[in-house]
Amino acid sequence: MKLLILNGPNLNLLGTREPEKYGNRSFEDYFSDLQFKFRNVELSYDQTNIEGELIDKIQNARQDFDGIVLNAAAYTHTSVGIGDAVAAIDIPVVEVHISNTFSREEFRHKSFISPVAKGIIVGFGLQSYDLAIQSFLKD
Ligand code: DQA
Repeated sequence: MKLLILNGPNLNLLGTREPEKYGNRSFEDYFSDLQFKFRNVELSYDQTNIEGELIDKIQNARQDFDGIVLNAAAYTHTSVGIGDAVAAIDIPVVEVHISNTFSREEFRHKSFISPVAKGIIVGFGLQSYDLAIQSFLKD
């Protein structure tokens, strides 16, 4: 099982960015926990702040991975292109969010990814990624 964890804009700042919402660990730090816990899964991690690069990475993942754990961050709520990219590929994509987007501003309630995702995990802090990986293993 080869999974790609793909993070969108501003998630490179995890650990220092609004820690009351997103916690105080960097994703690189947390990723090493995930690699240790899921030793039987080939996990890769990538991040970009650029919308078109996220689309390229989603398209390219279908050659190399069995699924994607995607936190498109702010683009979740704005990007028709990212939703279309998820719809276009034939590997499953699980949408994750660290915060509970439904308990926040109204504009965060809309997702262009949810309708085309395999499933959605929202609001469990960094553990959202762990739960998303587990969802692939239960297939
Ligand atoms: C987020 C929620 C988004 O609304 C926000 O723009 C982010 C992070 C989350 O993981 O909670 O950057 O995707």
